[in-house]
Amino acid sequence: MSSVTVIGLGLMGKALAGAFVGAGHRTTVWNRTPGKNVAGAQHAESVAAAVGAADLVVACLVNNDAVHQVLAQAGSLAGKVLVNLTNGTPSQAREVAASVAELGGRYVDGGIMAVPQMIAGPGALVLYSGSQEAFAEHRATLETLAEARFMGADAGAAALYDLALLSGMYGMFGGIYHAFAMVRAAGGDVREFAPMLTAWLSAMMAATPEAAEEIVSGEYATEVSALAMNQLALPNFIDASKELGLRPDVLLPIQRLIDRAVEAGHGGDSLTRLVEMIKE
Ligand SMILES: NC(=O)c1ccc[n+]([C@@H]2O[C@H](COP(=O)([O-])OP(=O)(O)OC[C@H]3O[C@@H](n4cnc5c(N)ncnc54)[C@H](OP(=O)(O)O)[C@@H]3O)[C@@H](O)[C@H]2O)c1
Repeated sequence: MSSVTVIGLGLMGKALAGAFVGAGHRTTVWNRTPGKNVAGAQHAESVAAAVGAADLVVACLVNNDAVHQVLAQAGSLAGKVLVNLTNGTPSQAREVAASVAELGGRYVDGGIMAVPQMIAGPGALVLYSGSQEAFAEHRATLETLAEARFMGADAGAAALYDLALLSGMYGMFGGIYHAFAMVRAAGGDVREFAPMLTAWLSAMMAATPEAAEEIVSGEYATEVSALAMNQLALPNFIDASKELGLRPDVLLPIQRLIDRAVEAGHGGDSLTRLVEMIKE
């Protein structure tokens, strides 16, 4: 079993440290505010002491400003690997990578595709990028947390894919919440509606690989569902929502993208053409 340090005992940090302890790794923890505990872990009195306790240091803090503040207290990182599982942008990841290199350490950025309850369980995935050598050395320990997928040597790659996946999620949840709001406002049973919505979204999800092919080829012509037809249908969703006393906020950005695409002469194309309209 190996040694690992976890910096940050928020909801996620606690789950990470608990998983390492559970797998039998010698685990040292540090948290800015004292009083947060993880059974079976050693508590370090300072960041420098925590970093000194293991070659693998996993940070999971509220944001990357906090990571920089912690690094300022870390001392030398010679011989250490910092795995930063804090959510942030690709540029922020590259900045943290540069700070770690200045301190003599190696850097791996990570994006956690899970909630704390999923850590060390089925379905949890963590994306990594940065030093492939450091990732390979510590892969077995990191796999304690979740499936580990390396996305490339650019430190920003994990954050990019993390944010892209989460963008998909937020868009999907926006649609789900609007659909529930419509059914509830009309006096429908949201419990009965939930499996219908799940089945419908699952069926629609099957179009994702085909959309990727369209994007790669730049061929958006369709015989399935044209933008011009969707443009005519969108006001129905918006009007019906307003009649139910609902704000159509979730639908309006999609309507704007469709309007722009049709105005630009793409009415015969599929919805996937909207990827081009998202570009600045
Ligand atoms: N929770 C989730 O479902 C989830 C899922 C995926 C990814 N994540 C990511 O994981 C990261 C942590 O999330 P969380 O849910 O654990 O957040 P959290 O419960 O709010 O914990 C935040 C942690 O950051 C520490 N912190 C804040 N400011 C600090 C500073 N200036 N210096 C040192 N430590 C500081 C806090 O320490 P104190 O105790 O001293 O305040 C605490 O340990 C975030 O980037 C989040 O996006 C979370």
